[in-house]
This record gives sequence, structure tokens and C-alpha cells, in this order.
Amino acid sequence: MWTAITIVWLACLPSPILQTESPAAASLQEPTAETRTDWGLGESTRQMLIQRCGDCHNPQSDNRKAKRALLDIGDLASVTQDFVLAGNAEDSDLYYMIVEGDMPPPKSDVQAPSEQELALLHAWISSGAEPPVNTPVIAEDPSPAEGTPWTRYVSRTHPLWIHFPLALLPVAFLAAALARLFKSSALRTTALFCAGLAVPASIFSVASGWLHAAEAPGQAGIDLHRWLGVATAVTCAAAMLARKRPGVFLALLGLAAAIGGAAGHFGGRLTYGPDFFPW
Ligand code: HEC
Repeated sequence: MWTAITIVWLACLPSPILQTESPAAASLQEPTAETRTDWGLGESTRQMLIQRCGDCHNPQSDNRKAKRALLDIGDLASVTQDFVLAGNAEDSDLYYMIVEGDMPPPKSDVQAPSEQELALLHAWISSGAEPPVNTPVIAEDPSPAEGTPWTRYVSRTHPLWIHFPLALLPVAFLAAALARLFKSSALRTTALFCAGLAVPASIFSVASGWLHAAEAPGQAGIDLHRWLGVATAVTCAAAMLARKRPGVFLALLGLAAAIGGAAGHFGGRLTYGPDFFPW
């Protein structure tokens, strides 16, 4: 009995070891700059930079601050233009920032390039920072999410529309509050005028924002921003529907202004990054 169990156990034992050594498993490992001999200096450097810096510096990254400073580390030609002094590694920002420990940011858990990788970068810059000769041409993926030029155009009016509800709602609330306080029909008309304009403005904001979000799917924090925006438009429309009841009108306007402010805050985080106004 125990012999049989031992034999079965022994038979099972080597399998995980065999698996890690099988060529199939080895081919799953990503090639590194050192393992690919058919890459020239430029392409090896590019691949190394993509591996070490591409988490933040790529067009799909969530890190907007990083993208604004350097959009795509894989686009070595434009990186070279902005941050490399060909032939002089020490005076090249790209090299200097890594040596100084500024990039990758020390606060991030991204591993910094090794000595060899730095030497590779140094060698590439010193030899004139030639662009990679065999850069694989990555076909543009015409993702349906990106939409037609027309929807793209409309989606980019989002930053235009949002300012209207953001300003009109607090002003409408203020006017409605003062109208009640001072029993002023002029102020009440002002409140109705502002709130009435805020309804279409917030609907345009939501519609263009919806299209805008589809351009960059999967962004962190987008859902909170989206639904706060929708809630602003709904609350604002509800306020207009309740305009005959001044108390309810005022309360709903205050609520819409507050939700709109929150939507604006989280939209700002999407645009400027969470460090811009860290609250
Ligand atoms: C964890 C995210 C992250 C990683 C990884 C990262 N960066 Fe950055 N990088 C940033 C951010 C954020 C900024 C913008 C800094 C700022 O505005 O203060 C930036 C800015 C830069 C800039 C522009 C600096 C300027 O003054 O305009 C360069 C060049 C740069 N990074 C190079 C690199 C390189 C090279 C690597 C890899 C070795 C790398 N980064 C890795 C987040 C990152």
C-alpha cells in the first residue's frame, strides 16, 4: 500500500520541475535586451526602456502626469528629440534622470534599470543615438471604441460644456436662496434662468463626456466621474421640474451644485492626475 503511494507520489514529483524546464515554458518568458541578439543597439535600448519605463510612459497608461511629460517611451525618435543629446550621455536628460534616481520615480515600485541596462543606454547615446533600424511597425488598431471623426470631435467639446453647469448651478442656487430671503421676484427669475440653462448644458456635458470616455476605455476612476456627472444632470432637471415649489427647487439646486462640484473634482483628477489636487 505505502509502496504504491510512494510510487505515485514519485511519479508526480518531477512534473512541475519538467514543466519549468520545457521549451514551451521558456518561450513564454519575454525576451530581454540581453537575450535578443538580432536587435541592434537602438532597438535593444528601446525594448529596455519600454520594459523599465513603459508602465507609466505609454499612451494607454493611467498616469496622466507621466504621459504629459513623456507620452510614449517606445517612440524613441521623439524621446531622442526631447531628452537626448546625441553623443553625450552625461548631458542627456534621459540618462541623467535615471543615474540621479529621478526616474523611475523613487516612490513607485517599478524596478530601476540595472547597471548593464544603464551601460546599454550610455552606449546607444554615445554612439549617436541612432533610431532603431528594425522597429517593428505596430499596425494601428482601429478600435471601434475610438469612434468616427465626428464622435471624436463632439467628445472633445466635453471640456467646453462642463464649465456651464459648474458655474450656472451655484449661481442658480445662490439666486434662489437670496430670492427666498429677500422675497425678490427678479432674483427668482435669475435662478430660473440659470437653472434652465444648466439643464441642457449638463446634458451636453454628459453626452460629450460619455463619448470622451469611450476614447480611452478602462481609465481608473472614470466610473465615479461618469455617474456623478449623470447625477448632476438628473438632479438639475429635477430641480427645474420642481420649480413651482421654491423650497424643493432650492434644495435640489444645492444638491445639483454639490454633486456637480464633486464630478468636476474627479474629472480634474482624470485630466491632471491624482497628485495635482490630492484630496
Ligand atoms: C511610476 C511611473 C513612472 C515610471 C515607471 C517612469 N516615469 Fe518618467 N515620469 C513619471 C512622471 C509622473 C513624470 C512627470 C514628472 C513631473 O511632472 O514632475 C515623468 C517624467 C519623465 C520625464 C520628463 C521629465 C521632464 O523634465 O520633462 C522623463 C524624461 C522621464 N520621465 C523618463 C523616464 C524614464 C527614462 C523612465 C524609466 C527608466 C521612467 N521615466 C519611468 C512617471 C514615471
